[in-house]
Amino acid sequence: PVLVVDFGAQYAQLIARRVREARVYSEIVPHSMAVEKMLAKDPRAIILSGGPSSVYAEGAPRLDPALLEAGVPVLGLCYGFQSMAAAAGGTVSPTGVREYGATRLEALDASSELLSGQDVDQNVWMSHGDSVTAAPEGFEVVATSSASPVAAFENREKRLYGVQWHPEVGHSDRGQEVLENFLHRGAGIEPSWTTGNVIEEQVERIRAQVGEGTAICGLSGGVDSAVAAALVQRAIGDRLTCVYVNHGLMRQDESEQIEKAFGASTGGAKLVMVDAEEQFLTALAGVTDPETKRKIIGREFIRTFEKAQAEILREQGVVEGEGDTAHAEAKAFLVQGTLYPDVVESGGGEGAANIKSHHNVGGLPEDLSFELVEPLRTLFKDEVRAVGTELGLPDEIVWRQPFPGPGLGIRIIGEVTKERLDILRAADAIARAELTAAGLDRTIWQCPVVLLADVRSVGVQGDGRTYGHPVVLRPVTSDDAMTADWAKVPYEVLSRISTRITNEVSEINRVTLDITSKPPGTIEWE
Ligand code: XMP
Repeated sequence: PVLVVDFGAQYAQLIARRVREARVYSEIVPHSMAVEKMLAKDPRAIILSGGPSSVYAEGAPRLDPALLEAGVPVLGLCYGFQSMAAAAGGTVSPTGVREYGATRLEALDASSELLSGQDVDQNVWMSHGDSVTAAPEGFEVVATSSASPVAAFENREKRLYGVQWHPEVGHSDRGQEVLENFLHRGAGIEPSWTTGNVIEEQVERIRAQVGEGTAICGLSGGVDSAVAAALVQRAIGDRLTCVYVNHGLMRQDESEQIEKAFGASTGGAKLVMVDAEEQFLTALAGVTDPETKRKIIGREFIRTFEKAQAEILREQGVVEGEGDTAHAEAKAFLVQGTLYPDVVESGGGEGAANIKSHHNVGGLPEDLSFELVEPLRTLFKDEVRAVGTELGLPDEIVWRQPFPGPGLGIRIIGEVTKERLDILRAADAIARAELTAAGLDRTIWQCPVVLLADVRSVGVQGDGRTYGHPVVLRPVTSDDAMTADWAKVPYEVLSRISTRITNEVSEINRVTLDITSKPPGTIEWE
């Protein structure tokens, strides 16, 4: 792989994605990882990310010079560039001149390897206080800006490169070319990472992991679990059973739609529909605390999967009676659509499975009797969509907006009851229909509708006073749900949604709009 060393800014994921766009496989590692451990991964190249610190700040992450002596091509970006300069014997100074945002270059060496084919007339995105004022010995300065006497350098012999700017962000006009020059020319890596490769590789891994065993996959109706299921199906055929649990927290008509879409799309994977509405609502009765709700829902999911698995094994004659659970446990694999950002968020790979599984179904119980199969662990959302398309899943599934495993259970603020769910379902169906009609489905990442079930407010309808509940519209835009902004939905669309909800759902007399970005808000309210 190409390793992206994370120096603690939010840029590492973006860099990893850009590297993959250059068709090269990338992995993120923390800067605290020892150089030997990085080298043990046999990297084809290493990219040092930006970071929030000054290289002189106390406790600032340092670059071990050994990394530059290992014969592996290295590219430093921003903080990574400065720490590289410092480690190789150059000078980094707090010049007192900050460059922030779109910046013009003053000179650029188009005959360099890193900036080959570029000209000086371009914007580069800068964000730094310190500057490299003298390049290390053996390095050539290949770009300058007014505040950065050394804005880019290279040492072709040792294959070490660096730029002060952030080529990974869209505001750097020709940033992707810088990354590709480094990867394809500097490091000599062929662009060969394709969704076809991903599929082949994952199918092999799944076969190795599951062996002759059987697996079940909880389908949520979302793209991640659908693609995960399709991959596993390709690997082990009908030893996979998909289980869809209707926990009563789904949106209007959703279960029927999923049954229909799935019958048509998975090329014959077995689909078991489980109706567990009563079980979940009983377990949730009286609960208002968000984390408790999530844990209960997660626990009930797993109990339902366990029951379904036991039944499947009984049907296949692998297990004899109800009591023969030891046998069932030994053979149980549970497929999950865990994505790379979740793995990274919880610490860069090692030991991260539990944390994301938690996120996936809202809290796995500790006595989990399944072994997890997570074929999307190395992928970003856009790659999952590409894999889904390549596997022949219909657009309707591939482009489905995310919907959380705990469903509407975490969109009712207060106790979850059947009556409240029905109210929320009606309001949510209207909002979704209007957003779809306005052609906004791909612009908007998702739009939770949240019922403030314990809040009431006074209204007037006809000639009468009403005393109903508010709902909150939470439309957001996002690339990966890690960060998000509130979506600027046109007023006419908002107005139609508001009028229809208050007219058609009698318990609701107020519609409000959530205009909080993430951070500080999360997308869901609970
Ligand atoms: P937050 O609320 O953390 O949500 O900003 C980020 C994204 O994740 C979805 N989400 C979940 N998905 N199980 C899921 O499968 C969960 O427990 C869960 N919680 C949040 C949320 O809809 C958004 O897309």
